[in-house]
Amino acid sequence: MRCSRQFGGLTQLAAIILLAAGCGTSQHEFRPNRVYQKMQQDITRVDLSETQLADIAEILTFWFGTSDAPLIPQLDDVEVGRVLDLDRLRMAAGPVGSEEDGTNFGLYRKHCAVCHGISGDGAGPAGALLNPYARDFRRGIFKFKSTVGPMTPPTDEDLRTLLVRGMPGTSMPSFHLLADAELDALVDYVKYLSIRGAVERALLVESVDELSGPDDRLADVAFDEDSPERIGEALSDLAPLASYVAREWRDAPTRVAAVPPRPSDWNSPESIRRGRELYLGEVANCAKCHGTEGRGDGETVDYDDWTKEYFDPQNPDAVRGYLAVGALKPRQIRARDLRWGVFHGGSRPEDLYQRIFHGIPGTPMPAAPMKAEDARPGDIRLAPRDLWDLVAFVLSLSGAGSRDPIAEIARRN
Ligand code: HEC
Ligand code: HEC
Repeated sequence: MRCSRQFGGLTQLAAIILLAAGCGTSQHEFRPNRVYQKMQQDITRVDLSETQLADIAEILTFWFGTSDAPLIPQLDDVEVGRVLDLDRLRMAAGPVGSEEDGTNFGLYRKHCAVCHGISGDGAGPAGALLNPYARDFRRGIFKFKSTVGPMTPPTDEDLRTLLVRGMPGTSMPSFHLLADAELDALVDYVKYLSIRGAVERALLVESVDELSGPDDRLADVAFDEDSPERIGEALSDLAPLASYVAREWRDAPTRVAAVPPRPSDWNSPESIRRGRELYLGEVANCAKCHGTEGRGDGETVDYDDWTKEYFDPQNPDAVRGYLAVGALKPRQIRARDLRWGVFHGGSRPEDLYQRIFHGIPGTPMPAAPMKAEDARPGDIRLAPRDLWDLVAFVLSLSGAGSRDPIAEIARRN
């Protein structure tokens, strides 16, 4: 049986009986983003009232439904149905179960929520134990992708590849045994949680910036009484916030940077030697963080953006306040020890080319300073050939160049 999570018209008593019966316990509800709320309140020194916070929750439910019954927001200027497929979301959402024909439901709760959390906040029951932490999808930053720009969303293909491969060297498992339709459903559900989370953040910013007092409201509607049309109209001023996020996801495939072909002498001793020179040199400056021998022992004290955005990790008072509202303990991020040959985003030469070209968004690892196409002679930035030599050198440190996990998985099946 799939439990309905709509307590709308139910009396409290009925709701309590349902809870006691194990149906739709609140641990399965989307949780508000208290950490980002606190950060916005701290910056603006505006405290949002209970009504204002309840409005944000209601608006999100109106647009996105619940963790048991997801919806796709209906927006005038972006067809969100081109970004998210409702059937796929339904397959991934809700409690774990299966139909007689073998179709599985509740895939996200079954496979992902223990680490990533029901709301996609990266704070599931196992979340606090992991290092690195599981991704908080709500922030909209993804580390391993093919699109240009740290905030540009990944493509469906990027997410799918990641699910199939997993992330070697982290606790993120490979899901290569899942059926194609299940992988598609999970990809859409990650996008859904990310879009919903970004819209929630935008509504919090809008609230602290625009509301003039504790009684002022983002939209003056009675969500339990007004018709959907009336609510839709009342939210029309806020809809552009959601459209903006949905459009970024829709347009991500147009922003893929193709990996140029490997040069013919790639990985020759000369190519590796040039790569080493670049690695140690001032333009690429890899040794600054990864150390001269690639041990990951260069500059060490830094944190990722999921921590640094909210608070100063070195200030115990700030840290305490944020831990109290659900932030995870700050953990230092280290540059990878390249001699292990374990690459979280894949160890094919093309994967590493992408890593060096794009950097790793949300972390200190910077995008490579690339030469413009119309570069003048003497321009000291890097060209694709240089990146390929760097890839050759990085792989030479571990001899990992010949491994291809995706091909290995395909062979095993
Ligand atoms: C055992 C814990 C665990 C489980 C289960 C898990 N993940 Fe992850 N996941 C992680 C960790 C840890 C990371 C972050 C690794 C990092 O930052 O390098 C991650 C990262 C990700 C990312 C971000 C990739 C990027 O480029 O930034 C996505 C997307 C993702 N997981 C999706 C899923 C989905 C979908 C499922 C379920 C099918 C799932 N994960 C199950 C631990 C887990
Ligand atoms: C400012 C510090 C910094 C610099 C400079 C830097 N890196 Fe990194 N690098 C990192 C950090 C931190 C990580 C780990 C990020 C993560 O996985 O969350 C990393 C990860 C990597 C990885 C692992 C990718 C994977 O899939 O696991 C490779 C390969 C790498 N760096 C190569 C390079 C190369 C080559 C250069 C020079 C062009 C370079 N880095 C410059 C900080 C840096």
